[in-house]
Amino acid sequence: MKKHNYSAGPCILPQEVFKQSAQAILDFNNSGLSILEISHRSKDFVAVMEEARALVLELLGLEGKGYQALFLAGGASLEFLMVPYNVMKVDGKAAYLDTGTWASSAIKEAKHFGETLVVASSKPENYNHIPKDFTIPADASYFHCTSNNTIFGTQMKSFPQTDVPLVCDMSSDIFSRTLDFSQFDLIYAGAQKNMGPAGTTLVVVKEALLGKTGRTIPSMLDYQQHISKESMYNTPPVFPIYASLLTLQWLKNLGGIAAIEKINEAKANLLFTEIDRNPLFKGTAAKEDRSTMNATFLLVNEDHQETFDAMWKAAGISGLAGHRSVGGYRASMYNALPLESVQILVDVMRNLENNI
Ligand SMILES: Cc1ncc(COP(=O)(O)O)c(C=O)c1O
Repeated sequence: MKKHNYSAGPCILPQEVFKQSAQAILDFNNSGLSILEISHRSKDFVAVMEEARALVLELLGLEGKGYQALFLAGGASLEFLMVPYNVMKVDGKAAYLDTGTWASSAIKEAKHFGETLVVASSKPENYNHIPKDFTIPADASYFHCTSNNTIFGTQMKSFPQTDVPLVCDMSSDIFSRTLDFSQFDLIYAGAQKNMGPAGTTLVVVKEALLGKTGRTIPSMLDYQQHISKESMYNTPPVFPIYASLLTLQWLKNLGGIAAIEKINEAKANLLFTEIDRNPLFKGTAAKEDRSTMNATFLLVNEDHQETFDAMWKAAGISGLAGHRSVGGYRASMYNALPLESVQILVDVMRNLENNI
């Protein structure tokens, strides 16, 4: 039986993407060759890369606005250091908003490159909200934030208006909601939530941001090198990029980000309404900052844990256990998770209430 997959990432992808990628492993474009055995310089793969890079900009509404899309390797974690390497001026500083484990990992890496100012942090409250009251120094090379905090279930609903370049880790909510993406100078995201399988990282960068640090950057870590080689400076992760293209095509056919946003809001509303209504459960994140991607919640009485766990597992639900730093449950409702899966979870929560 196919599970209702609430995994936080790698996570559910559209079923048709699984089918199409499986087919491409056997025979890519009727070429008699697998996608896994062709050259990344072959005509067929170059076309994949070109379409994927263009589709990213199209879906984000950034075509013709001076941005480049790159598919790199090394995970979002490598971007934690590529960002300061490429954007923090020598003897300059960078400003960071500390909203969770991933934000603090980014801060740790930036410190290797220069003064790293944490403008606000919700760590003392176990990152249960997004700090709103902070000042970004005008002389910072950039301001870095994390749009969605996968572990703590919080999401930034707005972004600071500032003249300082805006850098955002969107690993866990890219392509999930409409935003004015042109307010960001650099966006990065590991593929393995809303875009594709693990193994590639999307970087969308305004070219005008680059080349201003006064640093000598090793080629593999230099965004300008990757741009000049059209995201093929070295052998790219061919299969994750192909599966990402299929997922982006799926999203485009669905109606793009505006269409998926409506579905994502419906899923989040359904689940949060139940969390707030059902006396057996409580949410962990501040209501105004709740993530539409990762809903974190607890049982009010932990004595019910064994029964509840048995019930959701029996209903075919997978991946609902919370992260150890929050405990309880985390329902990750990425783009490909159907509304029906959320209804199943809500039914289980109601059944628990009725049977206790
Ligand atoms: C918001 C966020 N940033 C960064 C990362 C790290 O990504 P990676 O494992 O690709 O390095 C994750 C992983 O879940 C994440 O959720």
